[in-house]
Amino acid sequence: NTKVWKVDKYVDNLENNPHVVDAAQLLRENEVVALPTETVYGLGGNAESDAAVEKIFSAKGRPSDNPLIIHIAEREQLQRFVAEIPAKAEQLMEAFWPGPLTIIFKKKAGVLSEKATAGLDSVGVRMPDHPVALALLKRCGLPIAAPSANSSGKPSPTRAEHVIEDLQGKIAGVLDGGATGVGVESTVIDCTDSVPVIFRPGGVTKEQLEAVIGEVRMDPALSEETAKPKAPGMKYTHYAPNAPLYLVAGSKAFLMKLVEEKQREGLKVGVLTTEENVSEYDADLVLACGKRAEPKTVAAALYDTLRAFNHEKVDIIFSEMFSYEGVGDAIMNRLQKAAGNKVIIE
Ligand code: TXA
Ligand code: MG
Repeated sequence: NTKVWKVDKYVDNLENNPHVVDAAQLLRENEVVALPTETVYGLGGNAESDAAVEKIFSAKGRPSDNPLIIHIAEREQLQRFVAEIPAKAEQLMEAFWPGPLTIIFKKKAGVLSEKATAGLDSVGVRMPDHPVALALLKRCGLPIAAPSANSSGKPSPTRAEHVIEDLQGKIAGVLDGGATGVGVESTVIDCTDSVPVIFRPGGVTKEQLEAVIGEVRMDPALSEETAKPKAPGMKYTHYAPNAPLYLVAGSKAFLMKLVEEKQREGLKVGVLTTEENVSEYDADLVLACGKRAEPKTVAAALYDTLRAFNHEKVDIIFSEMFSYEGVGDAIMNRLQKAAGNKVIIE
């Protein structure tokens, strides 16, 4: 059975917390444990062990061609498995680590499990900004491969309860450090070419990156559905609630018409909105996902809100759209994926 270890992230000396010590020992034995990060909960395993990495893929039901992000606590750990560190990557690490930024480097062959990197000659690495994650990484001293700790395809977990919902009985344990902060995953940036490319929008925005290293491109696959995505993970259906989700580009009155139409068909209808508008809709379940005026609160609440629609077993969900400004880019990317790109335009 999966153990739940509650750990207060605000106390000192977390490296010697008995639960952190237990979890680190399990990682050293090539077991897998879930851990809180500042973005979402990760499912960690020894990145140098095929056995551990196989356990990650099988617990999640994840396709094996989708590489994992390697988590470290100290920059010196890079030397072991990264072939070269470009100057721009150096600047990015200085500016954003620890934090929600994954940097793709050329890989040093023969150190990490080939399964962790899905056989690629590159590797994505990040240093999470969460005291429990950092304590665990330091305590075990290993590079830890950690995808989001959800069943493949489901919304990512932002609370230990979400991890349990999906992975109970399939993993050794979960360190419960409370709700994560950012709420959407790290930005993934490829630094192996002269102009860095964003493969996945996330907690660090394009504007923030450009302020440090100048020009940054977006992977064209992020806007053109037909192009082949560079981050293998971006091609799968992701983050989806159980009920079909539609993004609605239009007025509240238009969205309400859609709700009424479906209710007349006898369906239980959910609406995803924000605190500003929650009282203006009448449906079977109307949920406020943060405050529109503060996009960070929307990001923080997004996955929890998507999961809440599952708990109430609605048949169909209509969602408002959000601005692409700042972290809005990541919010809209996740919502579009959760909706399988279904958009209704007024
Ligand atoms: O915030 C996060 O990044 C969370 C927490 C747990 O750290 N982790 C996470 O991992 O989101 P995951 O496995 O759910 O997403 C990893 C993404 C996938 O889209 C994958 O394809 C991409 O990173 N990726 C990893 N290594 C890559 C590589 N070498 N080249 C291109 N894309 C890579
Ligand atoms: Mg994921």
